[in-house]
Amino acid sequence: MIIRVIKEGRMKVLLINGSPKGKNSNTIKLANKFVEGLVEERQGAGEDVVVDVLDVSSLNIGACRGCFCCWKSTPGKCVIRDDMPSVLQKQKDADVIVWSFPLYYFNVPGSLKNLIDRQLPMSLPFMSDDSNSTGSGSHPTRYDMGGKRYVLVSTCGFYSASKNYDSVTEMFGHFLGKGNFETIFCGQGELFRVKELSGRTDQYLEVVKKAGREFAGGTISGETHAQLEELLYPREQFEKMADASWGVDRETGGKESEDLIFTRQMATLYNKNAWDGKDRVLEMNYTDLGKSYQILLNRDGSKVVTDGSLEPTTTISTPFDVWVSISQGKIGGAEALGKKLYTVNGDFSLMMNWNKFFGQSEESRTKQGDSSGQNSGAREKKPSMTTLLIPWITFWVAVSINPGVGSVITMSVCALVPLLMWSCKLVIWDVLSIALVSVMAGAVKLWGHAELVTNAGYLVFGLLWLFSCLTKEPLCASYIKHNYGGEAAHKNLLFMKTNYILAFAWGILYVLTAVWTFFLNRAGMGKSLVVVNNVIPLAMGAFTAWFSKWYPAHMASGK
Ligand SMILES: Cc1cc2nc3c(=O)[nH]c(=O)nc-3n(C[C@H](O)[C@H](O)[C@H](O)COP(=O)(O)O)c2cc1C
Repeated sequence: MIIRVIKEGRMKVLLINGSPKGKNSNTIKLANKFVEGLVEERQGAGEDVVVDVLDVSSLNIGACRGCFCCWKSTPGKCVIRDDMPSVLQKQKDADVIVWSFPLYYFNVPGSLKNLIDRQLPMSLPFMSDDSNSTGSGSHPTRYDMGGKRYVLVSTCGFYSASKNYDSVTEMFGHFLGKGNFETIFCGQGELFRVKELSGRTDQYLEVVKKAGREFAGGTISGETHAQLEELLYPREQFEKMADASWGVDRETGGKESEDLIFTRQMATLYNKNAWDGKDRVLEMNYTDLGKSYQILLNRDGSKVVTDGSLEPTTTISTPFDVWVSISQGKIGGAEALGKKLYTVNGDFSLMMNWNKFFGQSEESRTKQGDSSGQNSGAREKKPSMTTLLIPWITFWVAVSINPGVGSVITMSVCALVPLLMWSCKLVIWDVLSIALVSVMAGAVKLWGHAELVTNAGYLVFGLLWLFSCLTKEPLCASYIKHNYGGEAAHKNLLFMKTNYILAFAWGILYVLTAVWTFFLNRAGMGKSLVVVNNVIPLAMGAFTAWFSKWYPAHMASGK
C-alpha cells in the first residue's frame, strides 16, 4: 500500500548539503543561489516558500547494515537509532529537493552515499517492473513521492564537468527516476572560494540564480543550460592556477611561501590575448617582506622568475598585505595608488590597462554579461565630447562667416544635437552648452554685435570649464569616466586630480582667449585670430593627450 503524503498549502524546499565541508562547501554557494532565484520567483508570484537546509556533515547518519529489517520486521522503519528518520520525513514533506554535493571519485561523497543507502525504508521490498526506464528492475515506493521536483547541484575539481558525472547521473537516474531531475554541474569548483576571482565566479552564480528562477516557473531553458556549461576559465589558464594554488614547488616538492604562491596565482591571471607586441617584465617588490618577484608577460603567457635575472619594465613597490587587499577587491587599485599605498615605476601602460592584462577577457565578459541576462538588450549609451563641442564650434564658425544666417544655422544645430548624437548619452554639460549657445545665437539674430557675442562665447565656454572644477566631477571626467570604472572613478584620486587640472587649464585658456580676442580685435589685428584661436586649442589638445598619461605615471612613481 502506498501512503499518501498530506501537504500544507505552501511550497517546501529541502536543500541537502552533502559536502563534508558543510558551510565551507564550494557547491553550497551555487545551491544557495539556485534556491534564492527559485524563492524570489515564487514569492514574486505570491506564493509562500519555506526552505529547510540539511547539513549532512553535522548529522548523525550511520551506514546501512543490510539487515533488511526495514522491509521485514519493522516495515518502513530502520533499526538504527540516528538522525535518519527526520531526514526521510523532510524528504516526504518537500515539494522540491535540491541535492548539493561535491564530486568525489566520480560520484557522491561517502557520507551522502550513506544517506542514499538509508533510503531503503522508503521502498517496498517487492520486485517491480516499473524500472524508471532503466531496464534494471526496481522496487515500488512505499510513499507517494509523485509531483516532487529534484535538482542536483555539484562542483568538481577538474576543468570541466563534462564526462565526470556519468556515474552520478546513472545513480540518481535509478534513485529518482531517469530524467526526473535537473542538473547543474560545474567544473573548476575550487575557484568559488578564491576571493580574487569573485568577479568571474559571481557572474556564474548569477546564471545559477537565473536557472533557479526559470526552474520555479517551469524548466531551466536550453540557453541557461548552455551558459552553465561554459568554463569559468579556459582549461590551460585554470590548470595553471590550480597547480599554483597548492603552493608546492613542482621540482623539489617543498612548500612555497605565501607571497610566492600569491604571485604565481596572480601571474596565471595574465591574459595572453592582451599581448600588444611588447614583452613586459612586471616586478613585484613587497616592501615589508624585502622580497621581489618578476613576472614575464609575453605572447605565450606568463612566468614567475624568482632570481631577479630579468630587467623590469614596470615595478610595483607595495606592502604584501596591500596588494592582497587590492586583489581581493577590499580596496580599489586606483584608489590605493591615489592614496600612495603603493608606487609604480617604469612603463605605466600596464597599469592603465590592468583589467585588459589581468582581468577577465573582453570576450568572456561580453559572453557572461549577455548570459546572466543583465546586459542583454541595448548597450548602455556613453557620453561623447563631440556633443559638447558641436554647438560651440558651429556658433564660432557660422556666426563669424555670416551673423544673420550663421545664428539661424547655430540655433537649428542646437535643436538637432540630441538627434544627431542619439547614440550618445547627454550629460549636464551638453545640455548647458546647447542652452547657452542657443541664447547667444538668438542674441546675435535679434541684437547683432556678432563680434562681441562670439567673444563672450569664449568667456562663457572658459567659465563653464572653470565652474566644473567647483563640482564633484570636472567637465572632462564626465566624458571619460566610463573607461575608468564609471562612478568608481570618483574614488580614483589620480584620475580626478588629472581631470581637475585639465579642466582648469582649458577654462583658463578660453578665458584668456576671450581677453586676447577682445584686444586684438580692438587693435585691428582680428585677422591674426584665425591662426591664434585655432593653433592654441590644437596645442592644448596635444598637451592634454600627453599630460593625461604623464601625470598619473609621475604621481604613481611617488616622486
Ligand atoms: C576525496 C576527493 C575526491 C575527489 N574526486 C574528484 C573527482 O573525481 N573529480 C573531480 O573533478 N574532482 C574531484 N574532487 C574535487 C572536488 O569535487 C572539488 O574540490 C569540489 O569543488 C569540492 O566541493 P565542496 O567544497 O562543495 O565540497 C575530489 C575531492 C576530494 C576531496
